Amino acid sequence: MDLAIQRRVALVIGASSGIGEATAKLLLKEGCFVVACSRSLSNLERAYSDSLEALREGKIFLFECDIGEEEQCRRLVKEVIAKFDRIDILINSSAGPSFAWGLEQVPGENWETVFTGKLFGYIRMIQLVIPIMERNNWGRIVSLAGIAAKEPSLPLIQAGAVNAALINLSKSISQYTSSKNVLINTVSPGIIKTARFRSFLNGYASQLKQDNDVVENLLIQKVPTKRLGTVDEVANLIAFLASDCSSYITGTNISIDGGLSTTAF
Ligand SMILES: NC(=O)c1ccc[n+]([C@@H]2O[C@H](COP(=O)([O-])OP(=O)(O)OC[C@H]3O[C@@H](n4cnc5c(N)ncnc54)[C@H](OP(=O)(O)O)[C@@H]3O)[C@@H](O)[C@H]2O)c1
Repeated sequence: MDLAIQRRVALVIGASSGIGEATAKLLLKEGCFVVACSRSLSNLERAYSDSLEALREGKIFLFECDIGEEEQCRRLVKEVIAKFDRIDILINSSAGPSFAWGLEQVPGENWETVFTGKLFGYIRMIQLVIPIMERNNWGRIVSLAGIAAKEPSLPLIQAGAVNAALINLSKSISQYTSSKNVLINTVSPGIIKTARFRSFLNGYASQLKQDNDVVENLLIQKVPTKRLGTVDEVANLIAFLASDCSSYITGTNISIDGGLSTTAF
């Protein structure tokens, strides 16, 4: 299958690690110009130290931007437009909320951070790129949600709330933009081996007073495919949604979880 996204300009938020990094590298391989963003330039430089040729050739650009900050988002979009005069693809993959092992671990002020860090940042970026994409009659927006949106559980209480809002919001916005070929979808990973998963595992193992290996194995046994997912598997789905091959998919949420979620819908 030819994704046909050569020379598309892709903005990847949360590109210094995990799913965002894998997606940025795949889009680069598929011939996109990639603008890789995170809050830390040194994290980005470390992540792309294996892509020096692409950096030299101007196929990938590293940008420091905290999407929790309105002004930084505006500056990012302005600079990308000054450079490319377009943004075709937006991938929102910044960090998810931390984990709560009891309700007392979710104080009121913490909710503000959670919504600012992920949901408000994603909304801001979506709103900034839509007019640019509509002008070109082509756009793809993929935001990372999570299966806790549909299947609430205590450690993921904040992730569930934020991701449910994100899925709902993406659906709503897609109803306005899809006639202009700006397609908006969300992807819900199950358990994917990233820094985020390692932090979850540390917390869970200490709750259960067990070794990390034991708890990881317990988690694996819950997954019908009997293994955890990889960032490359999620990146493949995102790249498909970011391409012309997904031209009739919009306003939807796709789980990629090895069968972990139990809901039929
Ligand atoms: N991994 C899983 O199993 C899993 C499961 C379900 C859902 N998800 C969702 O998938 C998304 C990505 O997860 P991941 O595991 O790949 O996370 P990750 O490895 O922790 O990566 C998060 C990325 O976001 C960047 N970042 C954090 N806050 C930011 C901000 N305010 N502005 C810009 N960049 C920011 C981080 O870089 P800097 O620190 O350099 O800024 C990093 O590059 C999250 O939204 C998560 O909720 C993941």
